[in-house]
Amino acid sequence: MEVVTLRSASEMETIQQGEQFASQLKHGDIVGLEGELGAGKTEFVKGICRFFAVEDLVTSPTFTIINQHAGTTPDGTPLKIYHVDLYRIGSPADLAEVGFDDMVFAHDALKLIEWPERAEQLMPSKRWIVTITADESDDDARLISIMPPQNPDLS
Ligand SMILES: Nc1ncnc2c1ncn2[C@@H]1O[C@H](COP(=O)(O)OP(=O)(O)O)[C@@H](O)[C@H]1O
Ligand SMILES: [Mg+2]
Repeated sequence: MEVVTLRSASEMETIQQGEQFASQLKHGDIVGLEGELGAGKTEFVKGICRFFAVEDLVTSPTFTIINQHAGTTPDGTPLKIYHVDLYRIGSPADLAEVGFDDMVFAHDALKLIEWPERAEQLMPSKRWIVTITADESDDDARLISIMPPQNPDLS
């Protein structure tokens, strides 16, 4: 499958694009969200959580590292969602302390991970990669590229 690049002109549009993207996600999927501070990773996650009818307020897990939400798929199946922000992770010991291993191998849960590069060694390679970058033309414009999990048999 190919990389798709979307252009967002506003925070609201990024949320809508996250919501549309989420229709492709399945139980157990991992989504790594890359991009600078303030790129819009958490806004995109809000859209994914909206698709899964999460009722909690979705906020940045910068200090909590892992937030957990109860979602529901469109066919009514419960879906546990972990929203993770590894920005403050400095060492493998920090990852162990927050229970990253158990979280990332929770096969039924959807894992949305900001700053996945902070846990490169522990991050399963089969994951979606969403990269958000500024679009120089406008302060509120973003480019959002989406790479689906690669099938190892084809590489
Ligand atoms: N097109 C856009 N998409 C997402 N956020 C935007 C956009 N334009 C402006 N913003 C602002 O950028 C910030 C993005 O914050 P956030 O999603 O927390 O970033 P990150 O999680 O990548 O650090 C918010 O303050 C938001 O209002
Ligand atoms: Mg964030």
